[in-house]
Amino acid sequence: MKVLVAGARGMVGRAVAAHCLAQNDEVFAHDRQSLDITNHESVRAAFERERPDAVINCAAWTDVDGCQSDPERARAVNSHAVENLALNCRRAGAIFVTISTDYVFDGKKEGFYTQRDDPNPESVYGAAKLEGERRAQAASARTVVVRTGWIFGADGRNFLSTVIERARRGERLKAISDAYGTPTYADDLAVRLRQLAQLDLPGIYHVVNSGSGVSFEEFTRAALVAAGLEGAEIESVRMDTLQRPAPRPRNSRLRCLLSEAVGLAALPDWESALSVFARQISR
Ligand SMILES: NC(=O)c1ccc[n+]([C@@H]2O[C@H](COP(=O)([O-])OP(=O)(O)OC[C@H]3O[C@@H](n4cnc5c(N)ncnc54)[C@H](OP(=O)(O)O)[C@@H]3O)[C@@H](O)[C@H]2O)c1
Repeated sequence: MKVLVAGARGMVGRAVAAHCLAQNDEVFAHDRQSLDITNHESVRAAFERERPDAVINCAAWTDVDGCQSDPERARAVNSHAVENLALNCRRAGAIFVTISTDYVFDGKKEGFYTQRDDPNPESVYGAAKLEGERRAQAASARTVVVRTGWIFGADGRNFLSTVIERARRGERLKAISDAYGTPTYADDLAVRLRQLAQLDLPGIYHVVNSGSGVSFEEFTRAALVAAGLEGAEIESVRMDTLQRPAPRPRNSRLRCLLSEAVGLAALPDWESALSVFARQISR
């Protein structure tokens, strides 16, 4: 495949570009400098030059609190630019795979969110991402939306690596005990994103590692154990004590109703993925 990867210097974008290259795809991996997705002229020129069969959009403004104070920029990157990529895909006959988020849900449900649940984002970030999903689907029928959450990976900005580094320095850590999600390893997500581009079955997919959902604190503790840092000190904190500008869902565990139905195997469980990650970052 000829694959254009937008946002290729982010945590997921790096994993996607590396995986596609390893599969012998012809890869056009663009960081923000080589392709700003909000710049319509650059996007048009890239499509004309590269004529991709598939576009995997990993570019986004992911600063959830930043988005809260600048809704216009949040919508420009996470919604309008996504729509424009989809429009270009339609014109070029390319499949469009774009990543969305568990933050499209309000977190009030008990249990796992599936495609049958109505989104109800509470943050500007979540609302812009949801608008991006919908605009992209309206702009091109060959749009695959991939909602995911709690991503960890070896490259890019990455909360788990930061936690592990701080524990290694002997710092006392804080972890939220009352927020629940489904962890997702960037390398496993990358494999699934490419599979979905090949499969060419449009729709909304929920892509996370398998296993039960966990609290952020449990996840942090498991990561420290995987990194051989079980002695690290962790203070449990409740989400509302942090007083962050943007609200986050208390529960954003995801489950997919479609993947199995279209013949896709479940991703590895998150605990095994965590062990692979710990080995990767200790190299
Ligand atoms: N991380 C998570 O836990 C999580 C959870 C759910 C969903 N997601 C979604 O997963 C996707 C990938 O996220 P990630 O964790 O890999 O985020 P990331 O590391 O922040 O990567 C996002 C990349 O997009 C780039 N970007 C920002 N604005 C751009 C623009 N206008 N044009 C082109 N590139 C631009 C950023 O470049 P700069 O660094 O130069 O700004 C960055 O390299 C996003 O759609 C995000 O919403 C992430």
